[in-house]
Amino acid sequence: MTKAQADTAMKVIEGGKSVSNARDLLRIVIVGHVDHGKSTLVGRMFHDTGSLPDGKFESITEMCKRRGVPFEWAFLMDALQAERDQGITIDTSQIWFKTDQRDYTIIDAPGHKEFLKNMITGAAQSDAALLIIDAAEGVREQSRRHGYLLHLLGVRQVAVAVNKMDLVDYDKETFDRIEAEYREYLRSIGVEPTFVIPVSAREGDNIVGPSTNTPWYKGPSIVGALDSFQPKSDPVDRPLRMPVQDVYKFDQRRIIAGRVEEGVIKVGDELVFSPSNKTARVESIEAWHNVPGRKAPTQAEAGYSIGITLDEQIFVERGEVISHVEHPPIETDVFRARVFWLGKEPMVPGKTYRLKLGTLDAPVTVQSIETIIDTTDLSGASSHQVERNQVAEVVMRARRMLALDEFETSPKSGRFVLVDKYDIAGGGIISMEGYADQRGLITARSSNITKVEHGIDDQARAFRNGHKGGVLWFTGLSGAGKSTLAVALEKKLFEKGYNVYVLDGDNIRHGLNANLGFSPEDRAENIRRVGEVAALFARAGMIAITSFISPYRSDRDRAREAGGDDFHEIYVKADVETCEKRDPKGLYKKARSGEIKDFTGISAPYEAPDMADLEVDTSSASIEECVEQLTKYVEARFKM
Ligand code: ADX
Repeated sequence: MTKAQADTAMKVIEGGKSVSNARDLLRIVIVGHVDHGKSTLVGRMFHDTGSLPDGKFESITEMCKRRGVPFEWAFLMDALQAERDQGITIDTSQIWFKTDQRDYTIIDAPGHKEFLKNMITGAAQSDAALLIIDAAEGVREQSRRHGYLLHLLGVRQVAVAVNKMDLVDYDKETFDRIEAEYREYLRSIGVEPTFVIPVSAREGDNIVGPSTNTPWYKGPSIVGALDSFQPKSDPVDRPLRMPVQDVYKFDQRRIIAGRVEEGVIKVGDELVFSPSNKTARVESIEAWHNVPGRKAPTQAEAGYSIGITLDEQIFVERGEVISHVEHPPIETDVFRARVFWLGKEPMVPGKTYRLKLGTLDAPVTVQSIETIIDTTDLSGASSHQVERNQVAEVVMRARRMLALDEFETSPKSGRFVLVDKYDIAGGGIISMEGYADQRGLITARSSNITKVEHGIDDQARAFRNGHKGGVLWFTGLSGAGKSTLAVALEKKLFEKGYNVYVLDGDNIRHGLNANLGFSPEDRAENIRRVGEVAALFARAGMIAITSFISPYRSDRDRAREAGGDDFHEIYVKADVETCEKRDPKGLYKKARSGEIKDFTGISAPYEAPDMADLEVDTSSASIEECVEQLTKYVEARFKM
């Protein structure tokens, strides 16, 4: 057990409240172009706040004198960094400097690449950011990119230091121009910098107090600004999220260990484990240290690492997310993400990476690259790959169900890292825009039900009908020709003696699915029901032709599972441009004008099949040709 764990355990024992009288700690990430004076600024803050180890400043100035080089604040930082790397002076608590008010930890990184990596992994824990811009150079591409990454990472308390003011003669106009330009950029991405401060790290202007060189500046110094920031509090008032770290077996008991990331867990709470969807109640909360005479805690809140026991022995694994039954995380095997890419190799569709999200480590494949975002002007461009240092919007697919949250609502469980072999290749945040929470589809609600066996088997039905039952699942965009082909094929097959029936989207939505709209969840439910109905038709010995957009792969895969061996996925192919030109119901026009929201292909996703059983291309072949192709396909497979 580490010291931190022991401390946490102690805190939990004391009723879930921190009893430590330690000073307040703020974690900051310092961001800036390598040449913009980061080390100098940090060195200065160290010195001016009186946080340097005794004699350090003197020994470095002495060394400079000996070598005949002018003193640089960066030397001081280099020396400290070197000692720190060897673990000589500074202990693991990593306190960098102290002000009267509190201690500071700097989430630091020596170079640009490392910085980006630390941003993904480390800045997650940072409370605030200090961005550095060189007054002589102004806002550079990298300053914008750094701002953008802070935005992606959800760091909302930002101070901007316009450094090297001495090089521009403390000119107010230069400062104003940079401030206006950078504020405008940050605002456009949703970051509101709290302070923009003119400084000279080298000369010590506006580091701990006001500088006489900038009488026109009325705001706080760097330290004043940082002192005004609030440490991020652990989100206690959010729905419970506790990723399972490990499951320990002690005699008969299983203790499930993890850190409460959000919310509060109490003895007696009904929990659901996602994505296994098992439920149980908390029997006890175990602390790591058993202190004689102290009672076991009855609750633990965000920020604490705990172990729990359950009232039932259920099998759960590392990587699952514990929540309350009423507010579970999303379950999905596909999600949209904004990623920033650091990989040596570009990110390409079809490639599989390891997704690390909370304690989960699972393979995910890039399904599509939607846009590359230019972080300097926020414009988007399409590309077939994501290069190093680029930010992109992508769709990722997992082989099994994942439990996750959207970044917007839950920054901690909505942020992930992608690993390529052993390297962190990128990081990102999750959005489910256009995609459904699939939890409702896979959660069985009924119990005490028993299957009844039929007295007539499939063979007997097929023998009487002269053909097997099955499902011809048409998928494609609106206007691709699904319904036209479906009814034409139905007619043709009927004439040939087949028992065949078309289930069509527009028709079924008048009846069975009249209560469903076009939200991702409603579409998923639409397809789930039709998948089950089509399967019933097939069992009854008929050929069901279904004609639904069915835009999501996961839904079609579930329909296939319901349909069994004689399920055939048929991609009725025509690209958006073709369908829009045809626009038989005038819906594309309405979608373009914003009259219809979430319209497939325009403002809602369509995931084309990657391995359809049959593809008919209505943009190049005539209706008759397609029907011919389909009829041949059916005759070869369904005739007895
Ligand atoms: S699905 O996405 O849930 O599979 P479905 O095939 O049932 O869709 O219904 C699609 C039909 O509904 C389209 O052919 C079109 O006539 C109509 N429709 C109405 N609104 C939308 C929309 N937002 N997106 C797609 N189709 C829509």
